[in-house]
Amino acid sequence: MKKFIIAIDGPAGAGKSTIAKMVARRMGYVYIDTGAMYRALTYIAIINRVDLRSGEDLVKLAERTKIEFERVDDRIRVIIDGMDVTKEIRDEKVSECTNVVASVQGVRKILRKMQQKMGKKGGVVMEGRDIGTCVFPSAEFKFYLDASPEERAKRRYKELKQKGEKVDYGRIENSIARRDYLDKTRGINPLKQAKDALMIDSTDMTLAEVANFIVNRVKNRVKVNAREIRKQ
Ligand code: DC
Repeated sequence: MKKFIIAIDGPAGAGKSTIAKMVARRMGYVYIDTGAMYRALTYIAIINRVDLRSGEDLVKLAERTKIEFERVDDRIRVIIDGMDVTKEIRDEKVSECTNVVASVQGVRKILRKMQQKMGKKGGVVMEGRDIGTCVFPSAEFKFYLDASPEERAKRRYKELKQKGEKVDYGRIENSIARRDYLDKTRGINPLKQAKDALMIDSTDMTLAEVANFIVNRVKNRVKVNAREIRKQ
């Protein structure tokens, strides 16, 4: 059976990662988290004291850095130059700075090439902000996953609480609003719904419901807006 490229884009906290992982597992596809790649590069820039205001230095760093995903049992590890940075890239400081790194055109070009190489054979679920618009504009299936800012903040709050972290709901709400603004107003490759992507508002849906919806559409080759997916 032909293996497709499934692109899932959307704002922070819409449930993309969990849903993309569920879809990948059920389809037997590879899951690729492109946000983790921008985070990994940001982390390595911070620990190497690279000046984040210098686009040129960040591009040089991206050119000489190897970013890989390693699957250990059911877990995906993020490896940068042989170092496991899976945990570190989720630090608050990294989250704060990643948008700066992701706004550098040259950096995006290098990471986009890596992502295209990882997905070119198909059989991938790739999630991010610009997958349907820039990385794989010809992906067979494109979804734009959204949820209200309140719902996304609630989900994030619950997730952090479950991890035993001390959290302030107001701070989370502000952080989501700020990240939405930065992602959507970025000069290059901003977050936006591709014309032929299907919008899924998950505000009143469970993650399992969204994953089911996506898997059913892919398995049944349901039309994605104007584009017909022919039975292979
Ligand atoms: O999905 P995430 O929160 O892990 O993404 C981290 C950052 O990377 C966020 O600031 C948006 C940015 N990003 C991007 O610019 N393009 C992508 N394809 C994925 C993430």
